[in-house]
Amino acid sequence: MIVLGIETSCDETSASVIDNGRIASNIIHSQKAHVEFGGVVPELASRDHQAKIVSVVKKALEIAGISKNQIHAVAYTAGPGLMGSLLVGASFARAFAAGLNIPSIPVHHMQAHVHSLLVKENKIDLNPEFPFLCLLVSGGHTQIVLVQGFFDMEILGKTLDDAAGEAFDKTGKMLGLPYPAGPAIDQFAETGSPVFAFPVPKVPDLNFSFSGLKTSVLYFLKERLKKNPSFIKENLHDLCASVQQTIIQILMEKFSLAMLKVPCKTIGIAGGVSANSGLKKDMKRLAKKNHLTMLVPPLQLSTDNGAMIGVTGYIQLQTGKKVQEEIRTSANLPFLRYP
Ligand code: KG4
Ligand code: ZN
Repeated sequence: MIVLGIETSCDETSASVIDNGRIASNIIHSQKAHVEFGGVVPELASRDHQAKIVSVVKKALEIAGISKNQIHAVAYTAGPGLMGSLLVGASFARAFAAGLNIPSIPVHHMQAHVHSLLVKENKIDLNPEFPFLCLLVSGGHTQIVLVQGFFDMEILGKTLDDAAGEAFDKTGKMLGLPYPAGPAIDQFAETGSPVFAFPVPKVPDLNFSFSGLKTSVLYFLKERLKKNPSFIKENLHDLCASVQQTIIQILMEKFSLAMLKVPCKTIGIAGGVSANSGLKKDMKRLAKKNHLTMLVPPLQLSTDNGAMIGVTGYIQLQTGKKVQEEIRTSANLPFLRYP
């Protein structure tokens, strides 16, 4: 069984070949056009996907040593994401599949992030232990998800405003870091101390809020820069450590609460922010303290990639779920359920 996975929901054009449960290739083109704007410009994103999709898919097939005619299905991100970007990938995938007379499989981007947790040493584990509790943290979403089956996922809590990745990116922008700022904050935080305190918001239930952090960092910097114009430069590492620590604290408080409400033997983190070394460390500590198994994706599968989309498609075919080709691309796609 060979599945081609295609991801174009935001600013990565990516394609991957899943060959009998093994990731045989995973080509990721990260768009650079957005750096000067400090955030993703949707129109530029879709144009760049259009320009790159053919060469990215070609390369994925080439590296995997697979010809078009050997593919059994094409999985693609149907949402959520930027509508124009999604449409480029979806149109390509559906046309490619139609040309080969094979099914095209619409995939939910966030469910694919969850499935990235099932990849171990480049192979998909088709017998994971359910249920598990997943902290799903990306540039557009922050959710606590109860995963009871491959396609049986329930959102227990979510952000009421910005996503955790957005909090990294927006505060990073204030610190003069290029987009996306998450990786740079992570790196500088390693050699800094969280000496600056930012408030942790009080939000009901298992929900999150990150927009207050952005505002408090903004006012804090304004005030400090008035007294010392070099304040950011002189304190960059400590500022990054402080911002990161606050984001992690907000995430960990709610996730710990979810663990009490819905005890599971396994926990996991997925999505771009799961690449964060501080968050990974704290989650591992939490798992160890509670004698739980901890799932985390391989680093190259943390941020957006075609492999996770192919993995979802592969799981769907292998677990005998009927492919719902009629599902339409949507910027706000709800979790897909397959009875
Ligand atoms: O999952 P992803 O690649 O795209 C979306 O689905 O949104 O997540 C991207 C987000 C960005 O906000 C980026 O800053 C963040 O993940 N990110 C990180 C790290 N690597 C990526 N945030 C914190 N630490 C990192 N090491
Ligand atoms: Zn993502």
